[in-house]
Amino acid sequence: MSKKYVIANFKMNKLDSEIVDYVNSLKPLVKDATSEVILSVPFVSIKTAVESAQNSNILIAGQTLNENDFGAYTGEVNAEMLCSVGASAVLVGHSERRSHFKETDKEVNKKIMKSLRSGLVSILCIGETLFDKKNNLTQNVLQKQITECLNSIYANELSHIVIAYEPVWAIGTGITASCDEIEKAITTIRTMLVNLYDEKIAQAVNIVYGGSINEKNIKEIAKIKGIDGVLVGGASLDPTSFSKIVMEFNTKEKKTKKAK
Ligand code: 13P
Repeated sequence: MSKKYVIANFKMNKLDSEIVDYVNSLKPLVKDATSEVILSVPFVSIKTAVESAQNSNILIAGQTLNENDFGAYTGEVNAEMLCSVGASAVLVGHSERRSHFKETDKEVNKKIMKSLRSGLVSILCIGETLFDKKNNLTQNVLQKQITECLNSIYANELSHIVIAYEPVWAIGTGITASCDEIEKAITTIRTMLVNLYDEKIAQAVNIVYGGSINEKNIKEIAKIKGIDGVLVGGASLDPTSFSKIVMEFNTKEKKTKKAK
């Protein structure tokens, strides 16, 4: 059974001290989680979050990175810097980066390469806009994003990539994609990976869903065939809500073990 990922994206929320309180509250609530629990926090709080999460099963991630090594890129942070403060993963190509900061698939591709080759897990975000959806372009958009973002990524690197299917129209809107839509998108993405790589490699890639997840709708979403977890924005800001989402992905094996 593949590992599940439950990832929080704090976006530009929470002060450093609030992140310490958050991690301290979350730790006991998710201590029995069988999934990878990852918090993507603002750059300035990565080190504090890593320290607060010591001796727990919580990992810390960045929300983006610059694809260059060191140099004159004022305000930017690269993969080595993320690693040096203890980050384990990084979000790449989030739709807010694509829309506000005009990140292209080619840039996202370079960011993935840099993050993977520095030892970070890359959480690649893809998904169609409402315009794409209304014009039946979802398949084409996903195909372009997958092909360009994974260009020159070796098969053996794919196990360090999590693909987050986040339809832009579902992010922060309170409108979740239907279970059918999510299942179809996951199947489509996996088929694309089979075509680019092969069946075995494609099956090993973790594909998660993001977009208006909350502690109520997670029960149905967690049951979707082929889903390997979720990426949560708004509902991740409260540790209790987020822990309920995390525990929805706990495998039965662990629960049975605990009951003994
Ligand atoms: P919401 O859960 O607030 O819709 O945000 C989703 C998201 O963008 C996670 O990266």
